[in-house]
Amino acid sequence: MKTSRLAIAVCPLFFALTAVSAQTPPTDATLTANPVFQKSCAKCHGKTAEGHYFGGPSLISEKTSATSADGLRNIITNGKGRMPKYASKLTAEEIDTLVKQIRSSKSKP
Ligand code: HEC
Repeated sequence: MKTSRLAIAVCPLFFALTAVSAQTPPTDATLTANPVFQKSCAKCHGKTAEGHYFGGPSLISEKTSATSADGLRNIITNGKGRMPKYASKLTAEEIDTLVKQIRSSKSKP
């Protein structure tokens, strides 16, 4: 009984993980299509990256696209204000991909 319940709990997780790894690294994909973004960042910056949840600012604003790649990498790696640091949670490649995607996302008019 216990084992079958565990199998039911683990199976969807396994499929979710394979789906995520099959999509990484989506350097040419958009920020909001990046599973890393949806998993780690969307809860504060919003699923559309337009911000507002828990005070996370829009990541497709002019201010963010004007921030240098090093500046963005620094914020994601070391955190800033209420923005948590991701140095130990994401790999350098994952952070790099996020930086590229943030810089290439078009700001909303
Ligand atoms: C707990 C909520 C939270 C999470 C999760 C979060 N952020 Fe943030 N983020 C913030 C807040 C709040 C700020 C504003 C910090 C400040 O300026 O004081 C911010 C700022 C930023 C900025 C700077 C924006 C600017 O224009 O200055 C970037 C870039 C950023 N976050 C990217 C990310 C990425 C990428 C992730 C996922 C890896 C992420 N954030 C996860 C809350 C969050």
